Amino acid sequence: MKFENILVEIDESLAIITINRPKKLNALNRGTISELHDAFEMLEEDPDIRIILLTGSGDKAFVAGADISEFAHFNVSQGKKLAAEGQKLLFDFVDNLSTPVIALINGFALGGGLELAMSCHFRIASEDAKMGLPEVSLGVIPGYGGTQRLPQLVGKGKAMEMIMTGGMIVAGDAHASGLVNHVVEKDDLMAFGRKIAGRIANNSPVAISYAIKAVNAGFKNNKKGYATEIESFGACFGTEDFKEGTTAFLEKRKAKFTGTL
Ligand code: COA
Repeated sequence: MKFENILVEIDESLAIITINRPKKLNALNRGTISELHDAFEMLEEDPDIRIILLTGSGDKAFVAGADISEFAHFNVSQGKKLAAEGQKLLFDFVDNLSTPVIALINGFALGGGLELAMSCHFRIASEDAKMGLPEVSLGVIPGYGGTQRLPQLVGKGKAMEMIMTGGMIVAGDAHASGLVNHVVEKDDLMAFGRKIAGRIANNSPVAISYAIKAVNAGFKNNKKGYATEIESFGACFGTEDFKEGTTAFLEKRKAKFTGTL
């Protein structure tokens, strides 16, 4: 399989997917989402692959979010479709893979980037990683499962604060709140990921796939939450605040929100 936006490396039972748009801080455009889907599907179907590591290229970012330039002009129905399709193709898809996926967060994980990391089965961050859901600063809300998965991981109050402020937390805080399992020095991130992957690969892949299914089943009663997220995400696309927020980002200026619907 040939990819333009990602790299896939296979080392015996381990696969490493690297999102590879460093000039755009690995922002998730449509092509990247589709390639990630294809790569995860291919690796899931390969019985020799026991574990997948997901990381970003360059030394600055894991993923700095969904590609704002692609959706800034979208209307309500396009916004809804963006969230619904993205969740189905990538975020829910990864969450429900039977092959374990570990996110190695090597820098910024913002918006869709943090949502992607949260879709992985667990996360390891480098010391300089910064995480957040800044969508409200653009006049929109997280639309790739962030309103559901963040409270599951860090609790409702912390998630509310992160979503409302749109602020970033540093790796140490992310570790303290359960968002990431480990924080390691940047140069050690891949080696540490490989070490944990090696331990997982020694165990029964069938048992692991059942374990993932069972753990996930406990979080499946929030279907309405995801549906509400998609509806609300779409609704934002009809507001003046959304136009102002995304335009301001692309014009590299601070947004002036009026609260006008
Ligand atoms: N979508 C599209 N492009 C993005 C992007 C995104 N989410 N995040 C970064 N980029 C682009 C920038 O536009 C810039 O492109 P340019 O060089 O063609 O102008 C390039 O990536 C580098 O980013 P830049 O902002 O110059 O880097 P920085 O170090 O000054 O700031 C961030 C880093 C992460 C703080 C900043 O890029 C940012 O706030 N990104 C958006 C985060 C966000 O809101 N994500 C949620 C989206 S829903």
